[in-house]
Amino acid sequence: MGMDIGEWMERARQEVDAWIREDIEAMGVQPGSVEEAMRYSLTAGGKRLRPLLVLAAGEYVGLSWPLLKPVALAVEYVHTYSLIHDDLPAMDNDDFRRGRPTSHKVFGEAMAILAGDALLTEAFVKMAELAEGAFEPRQVLKATQWLAVAIGRQGLIQGQVRDLAAEHQDIGLDDLRDIHLKKTGALFEASVTIPAILANASEDAEALRHFGRHFGLAFQMVDDILNVVGDPALLGKATGTDAGLGKATYPRLVGVERARALVNEESRLALEQLDAARYARLEGILTYAQSRSW
Ligand code: IPE
Ligand code: IPE
Ligand code: MG
Ligand code: MG
Repeated sequence: MGMDIGEWMERARQEVDAWIREDIEAMGVQPGSVEEAMRYSLTAGGKRLRPLLVLAAGEYVGLSWPLLKPVALAVEYVHTYSLIHDDLPAMDNDDFRRGRPTSHKVFGEAMAILAGDALLTEAFVKMAELAEGAFEPRQVLKATQWLAVAIGRQGLIQGQVRDLAAEHQDIGLDDLRDIHLKKTGALFEASVTIPAILANASEDAEALRHFGRHFGLAFQMVDDILNVVGDPALLGKATGTDAGLGKATYPRLVGVERARALVNEESRLALEQLDAARYARLEGILTYAQSRSW
């Protein structure tokens, strides 16, 4: 408390990084093992925005950081798996991620697929660990179901399927919005809703869910804008790739300027159902996400 948001984000990020390192070292990392490939992508240095949102939403509903460690790890593991698979030649075919060659470039496609599979699976090992702590089994089950639904055939996976199908197609804004809500928004939504589910705070869960959806949309719009105007050295990944693949994006459909205006609009909507007395952390992360250059 009393900490400014930049300081809070830095401390939270360091805590999450330490949790990830401890967890992966505890798995035991042998040369040539799947854990080695998992560690490579996990420690490459992402922004950790999903775990940060878990902790910020936790503060919003009155849960401390240590209680939410399994959730913070789970959402970052799911996210990292989704990036490893997203970069595969059969999908977006990217060579750089988080400032390093992509997993398949280093370990080969088979190991990259398996490292992604293992990270996805490990996320649910973490969620199950919640039942060993302060939470009721019923809440843990509900939270775990939320994560599973968010990232499955009706959520992240559906978004990825439709993102690929939309390459070189003329799609409308409603369709594009729905793809973004699923491929990117669903995991953000889960990240902020799960703490409220664990805290048994159903009204907060609805307001946080609303925040997560709009945050996710704004976030993916910024990702698409940075793919056009960003600096690859800062981003740690190549730019211009969406145009190369004929991806459906906001900049392609409405132009960069209008896309920026929509980012501001979604950011405004994100906060509208939240309690202003409690939302400083969430607002801070949102402001950061809007103006980020990586
Ligand atoms: C990139 O996510 C992929 C999208 C969903 C747009 P991030 O920008 O959060 O990636 P990292 O974790 O910081 O590398
Ligand atoms: C990534 O979307 C979404 C998921 C991995 C689920 P993009 O393909 O637009 O993200 P980047 O630009 O490769 O990071
Ligand atoms: Mg993609
Ligand atoms: Mg991609």
